[in-house]
Amino acid sequence: MRYYVQFPAGTGELVAESIASYVDSPDVVYADDSSMIFESDTRRSVVEQIPFVKNSFTVIADVVRRHIEDGVMELTDTIRSGGLDAYADTFRVMFHVDGELVPVNPRVKSALESAITYASGQRMVGRGTGEEYWVVGRTDFDRFMLCRRHIRAKRATKAAGAISHELSSLLVAASHPDRGDVFLDPFAGSGSFTNARLSFPAKRIVYSDTDLKQLRSDFPQAVRESRDIEFLAEDALALPSIKDHEVDVIVTDPPWGEYEELPMELPEFLDATARSFDRVLDRERGRFVLLIARMAADTAVKALTGNNLTIASVHEVLVNGHPATVLIGGRGDA
Ligand SMILES: C[S@@+](CC[C@H](N)C(=O)[O-])C[C@H]1O[C@@H](n2cnc3c(N)ncnc32)[C@H](O)[C@@H]1O
Repeated sequence: MRYYVQFPAGTGELVAESIASYVDSPDVVYADDSSMIFESDTRRSVVEQIPFVKNSFTVIADVVRRHIEDGVMELTDTIRSGGLDAYADTFRVMFHVDGELVPVNPRVKSALESAITYASGQRMVGRGTGEEYWVVGRTDFDRFMLCRRHIRAKRATKAAGAISHELSSLLVAASHPDRGDVFLDPFAGSGSFTNARLSFPAKRIVYSDTDLKQLRSDFPQAVRESRDIEFLAEDALALPSIKDHEVDVIVTDPPWGEYEELPMELPEFLDATARSFDRVLDRERGRFVLLIARMAADTAVKALTGNNLTIASVHEVLVNGHPATVLIGGRGDA
């Protein structure tokens, strides 16, 4: 089966590293910084559950890319011959080329809609719920695809300032979760990373944030009452309840130094943060994934490498449109 998936901008390399943990032997046909097309025997029901994917699609047909209307006509011909499965009673079509919705000649659109109705028995509607068939073109990909968008359960709304489900899951996956892990987020805020870590087995999952008392009232009830997360309200620079070197992995998003008041200058704060990481992380296997404002990335690298930690990879991403950097590393060669 061929799949097309969309994910947060700038995370292409992280997705490429993590996708094999979710689908069997993905054969990547095309990838850019916000989407990927791959072949896999994995079932659709598994692909639509990949937590870092924003939208996923099954590719029904593809043709050589050319003028959009000619491409749509040929895609229409390919589905005339075969039956299409139906996952809803109604459908609509969209045309998404190089990241934008594009208009298409109404006669050409209508021919495609009629062919879908004939092949699937579904009724065309202008808007609302139902299936979405997308004609997709990606810059630098020489095919147009006819895709069926997977219908996914709606995710709970996030607190303001929280990191999205998709990015949280991706950063947790990038930490290579292991069932023996003691996992810590020392700047945990709304708990995006500790919640994402719950999807994998762990020895312990520790949340800490100095503002816990205030933040807790906004947690979903299941999280507030979770026995799988240990909640602390400690200063990340001290973490008095955490013993030396007892943590295997930290995934965190410290204050970015852009809006909030810090008790000291940002370089000093990041140095003290890295010193604290050095104290609590396992001496040999300790790992970290740090999300930081792009403008603070060099300072963070200096702080980490000055405190017995190594950077293995650096990824530039966007967080709600703000340039940010992900630093992945650990001890030794990480
Ligand atoms: C950028 S936010 C983290 C957001 C979080 N990743 C989320 O998705 O909600 C940084 C958090 O660090 C907390 N914080 C700031 N200084 C701290 C300190 N010294 N120790 C522990 N937490 C601190 C703040 O209360 C804030 O919740």
